[in-house]
Amino acid sequence: MRKLVICSPILILVGALSACATTNSTQQVSFDPDAPTVFIAGSSRGLGLEFARQYAARGWNVIATARRPEASEGLQALVAEYPNVVLDVLDVTKQADVQRVAERFRDQPIDVLINSAGIWGDLQAQTFGTLDYEAYEWIYEVNALGPLRVTEALIENIKASKQKKVITLGGGMGTRKTVEQAPPGHYWYRMSRAANLISMAIIQRQYKKQGIIIGIISPGKVDTQMLKDSGWPAHFKKISAKDSAGYVIEQIAQLTPEKGGELINYDGNVIGW
Ligand SMILES: NC(=O)c1ccc[n+]([C@@H]2O[C@H](COP(=O)([O-])OP(=O)(O)OC[C@H]3O[C@@H](n4cnc5c(N)ncnc54)[C@H](OP(=O)(O)O)[C@@H]3O)[C@@H](O)[C@H]2O)c1
Repeated sequence: MRKLVICSPILILVGALSACATTNSTQQVSFDPDAPTVFIAGSSRGLGLEFARQYAARGWNVIATARRPEASEGLQALVAEYPNVVLDVLDVTKQADVQRVAERFRDQPIDVLINSAGIWGDLQAQTFGTLDYEAYEWIYEVNALGPLRVTEALIENIKASKQKKVITLGGGMGTRKTVEQAPPGHYWYRMSRAANLISMAIIQRQYKKQGIIIGIISPGKVDTQMLKDSGWPAHFKKISAKDSAGYVIEQIAQLTPEKGGELINYDGNVIGW
């Protein structure tokens, strides 16, 4: 079987600077041209890391990106175990990172792009009465502009693939429904997610004829750092990142153009927004 070997001089430099962690920087990566490829933004921990792990185990080519992949024990363990995983440095708020990564993988079709990078942000800063308007900028940059930025940069890779799927995780907190259902507050997170939903819906409209499917999938209440940061009441039922990622991967596999732009629960129910 022919193998595609990817190696980046920029990352070799980054790797040289980053102490002794085994990183992609020095790793020669072999991609199977017959296997589908997933690109994950925000894979250092939580759901993003689980997606990387589970797609790697299924034999996919995995491009797992993070702000500091060398600091993620989970990512380090993955590259050590799977030759079909490549790591790269990507802060979704940095246009230079996004452009460099897009250039590195310019000729690589991407079947599934998962925008998993996200932050909740400080709770008091997004509570009415103590709103910190500067705090919004960072949350908006990561949650709303990040997925847009990464999707825009990789759109040709997605178009060139067989599956052509772009995934946004969640969005439920950005809907009108949760105004009634969720506790009040969390203004910045919810507003950033509402913007994220709208931008993904517009991309869906623009690229539908070219076969691109935008999957907006709610992963459930997942036991990750983000859920802790959200201050969500502890008595709510949670699921593990491992289980949630498994369910979401099944939903991604079953995505059809009719579901494009809809908000879908991890169990397959269309939530709508
Ligand atoms: N957990 C839930 O219940 C839940 C529910 C609905 C939706 N979601 C969504 O699912 C996604 C994953 O969240 P999670 O639950 O797995 O949370 P998590 O464990 O806190 O992971 C968040 C990830 O985002 C990364 N990240 C943050 N800022 C970034 C940036 N500027 N550039 C690149 N990566 C960045 C973090 O990397 P660092 O290590 O660099 O900080 C981390 O890998 C988020 O988009 C979240 O909104 C989660």
